[in-house]
Amino acid sequence: MKRSLLLLAAVLGFTSVHSQSAKTYVIKADSIKAHVKSTMYGIFFEDINMAADGGVYAELVKNRSFEFIPNLMGWTELNKSGEGNVEVINRAKERPENPHFITVNVKSGQYGLANEGFRGMGIKKGETYSFSVLARQHTGSKATLAVELKNAKGVVIGRGELKPDATDWKRYSVKFTAAATEEKGSLTLWAKNTGAIDLDMVSLFPEHTWKNRPGGLRADLVQKLADLKPGFLRFPGGCIVEGRELANRYQWKKSIGDIDKRENIINRWNMEFKHRLTTDYYQTFGLGFMEYFLTAEDIGAEPLPILNCGMACQFNTGQLAPMDELDPYLQDALDLIEFANGSSDTKWGKLRISLGHAKPFNLKLMGVGNEQWGEQYIERWKVFEKAIKAKYPYMKLVSSVGPDPDGEKFTFLNTTFRGLNADILDEHYYRSPQWFLDNVKRYDNYDRKGPKIFAGEYAAQSVAIASPDNKNNWQCAMSEAAFMTGLERNADVVNMASYAPLFAHVDGWQWTPDLIWFNNLGSYATPNYYVQQLYSLNKGTDVVPLTLNQAAVTGQDGAFASAVLDANTNELVIKFINTAKAAASVNFVVKGKKINSAGTITTLQNGDLAAVNSFSNMNAVSPKKQGIAVVSNNIKTVLKPYSFNVIRVKMN
Ligand code: AHR
Repeated sequence: MKRSLLLLAAVLGFTSVHSQSAKTYVIKADSIKAHVKSTMYGIFFEDINMAADGGVYAELVKNRSFEFIPNLMGWTELNKSGEGNVEVINRAKERPENPHFITVNVKSGQYGLANEGFRGMGIKKGETYSFSVLARQHTGSKATLAVELKNAKGVVIGRGELKPDATDWKRYSVKFTAAATEEKGSLTLWAKNTGAIDLDMVSLFPEHTWKNRPGGLRADLVQKLADLKPGFLRFPGGCIVEGRELANRYQWKKSIGDIDKRENIINRWNMEFKHRLTTDYYQTFGLGFMEYFLTAEDIGAEPLPILNCGMACQFNTGQLAPMDELDPYLQDALDLIEFANGSSDTKWGKLRISLGHAKPFNLKLMGVGNEQWGEQYIERWKVFEKAIKAKYPYMKLVSSVGPDPDGEKFTFLNTTFRGLNADILDEHYYRSPQWFLDNVKRYDNYDRKGPKIFAGEYAAQSVAIASPDNKNNWQCAMSEAAFMTGLERNADVVNMASYAPLFAHVDGWQWTPDLIWFNNLGSYATPNYYVQQLYSLNKGTDVVPLTLNQAAVTGQDGAFASAVLDANTNELVIKFINTAKAAASVNFVVKGKKINSAGTITTLQNGDLAAVNSFSNMNAVSPKKQGIAVVSNNIKTVLKPYSFNVIRVKMN
């Protein structure tokens, strides 16, 4: 019985690949069809899922300036055989952008508060932490401060002391080294001796941040972005640009300069999904526009800011700035270009220089509105387009064609913007894996002379759009890889693409799937991340035809493929996705260029379409590289079922 089963398996499975003759794919390496722009594969950043506060912005104290509602959210009053109290003081008239601070009165013993961090504080053994606070002693007060870093069991794993000595606001800081690693740490601040002391901007940062900038970004998370070698960085979103209503839209001018002057607002994702309410989600803007520009520069990405065009999120209030009150919105856009590119003779250029960046950021791209739609968008867009192009004709504007890749909203915007000669259209598709496979030819017939395409937000949804049950599984990632052959084949039209959203905190997310998942100590890359990375690292410079029976490879027997040359390394790069459950026997016949006798093949594969990466198995789906032989300009091989393969071979 056993033997006959084995025999049957051999007949159905094993022999099916080996007896099958290899399919011949022809690559015309001397026939360049399109150039691949350096911006082709980039990053979409939005402060959703605790991506900024609680995420890449390395601040460990939640509600450091007591602006959340209620003002002591995240804080717990404590007393150690002492007497005292904590009062929240409002000085809105004097400091409208940072109205609250606290007064700690200590009458005896020790009185203080503990901060819970963002779902805890991630503390690493041996790491130096920098605690700082703005403090002001009341006249006659002798209060001193003791800082304790604790693990989840309440054991002290780091401590420091401060002796504030002034009755005016002054920043005090102390550094200490953590004795243990803890994912869910907390911070306690004790006032000792007697007196009353005012406190604001209570802050704790690791010393080691990205580029070791004080008060900077989490190095491990920015590294994951740098490893994508992205062509652009889109920021700050997403719907966060728009706000649920205009009052909580993103205003870049409030996100730069001293951090205690950056007005905190509620994060619009705080209450977006009833099933994932995140009532403690605010925006402190510690990661603001200057930091976005710097990060883009650090990782070699073109900056792509998206600005509000006088429209709040149309999924929420859809609030509109009247046409005769658009000026502040437009001025923000014009001033941002001056801030990024202006010389010291300009108001905003001078400000950038005063913030430590003499060199312009060389801004060339800007989005007008995020995911807007309808006539009212066009009306407002026209005002922006006219004014920006008049002052900065070199700017290329990104314009939204709505939240869907088809339907009424899309058709209206697509037609209208083409009529208006828009530069770049931003298409969004959060769709099923099957949609991605079915739409691989989407751009084959796009107008070559029309606007360029930015696939600005996309991700295959395993269940349904924004369902909390969506998974970053291999089926989704593989379907994205297959679809991306269509982006690559049409690189003359599609100039930019980015997966969305980017980051998610495992304990603080609102939206799934996401490219990178993190906790307070580390992160892991999803299969989708590896797909993006393989495309980005292998984007090449020029598209060449890869065909099966003279037709592009767009799903025949589950195969999707494309090819590029890399003029920088003089290599031919083949991408082949086998979405079938049987292995594919292939023969790539390279014409027009002589190739070396050996190359490499990098494979992302899993036999289980439901496979995911996780903290317990970070590499369930991860790239594996090996050598591959070339015989007489032919690359003959067998590609695994459910696999994404990248072959690189030198041309001589
Ligand atoms: O990526 C999540 C959200 O999806 C973005 O904020 C928005 O632009 C889109 O609807």
